[in-house]
Amino acid sequence: MTTLAFNHEEIVARPLKPALLELDGISRQSVEAHYKLYEGYVSKRNEIMGRLAEVDIAAANQVFSEIRALKVDLSFALGGIKNHEIYFEHLGGDGGEPHGRIRDLIARDFSSIEAWRADLKATGMAGRGWAWTAFDWDEGKLFNYLGDAQNTFPVWNATPLVALDVYEHAYFIDYATDRASYIDAFFDNLDWDVVNDWVEQYQIRP
Ligand SMILES: [Fe+2]
Repeated sequence: MTTLAFNHEEIVARPLKPALLELDGISRQSVEAHYKLYEGYVSKRNEIMGRLAEVDIAAANQVFSEIRALKVDLSFALGGIKNHEIYFEHLGGDGGEPHGRIRDLIARDFSSIEAWRADLKATGMAGRGWAWTAFDWDEGKLFNYLGDAQNTFPVWNATPLVALDVYEHAYFIDYATDRASYIDAFFDNLDWDVVNDWVEQYQIRP
């Protein structure tokens, strides 16, 4: 038996920040249910990595469909982890106008802060699952990208700095079908200090 050679150590979910239970306009009940989904993605990732490590690749044609299914599911689980870790990490703040380097970047790459916010909101209304403000290292600027699922459509060599979850599970408890009001609440709870820490960490320079 020949198995896929890679490290498949298990990872653990990041703890839920207490500040997330006191958001403005996004209820504790909603956040707790949402966090459970994130924990599920971590479990799924660990399970899939374990199963991949046990696939007998010497069986050639017989396992291609299995590898395909596992790797597609893995991309979904990993997206669910990465997207939610950004989402939960940068909520819990006071929203308002961005400041510091992220403000300078947004002002440079969009015509105004309001234009950026309007574009991200429109992208969030248009997407099925996600809208991200990401710094594209090849173009050297920010762009608001659209995502339908956890694994569609991230862009290579771009670093997400704002992750707006627009799956119904993010807002249905609080807003039913009123996604627009949820997006406004999302902006009201952004922690710009966290975003600026990422700008610093990744050495993104205006
Ligand atoms: Fe979510």
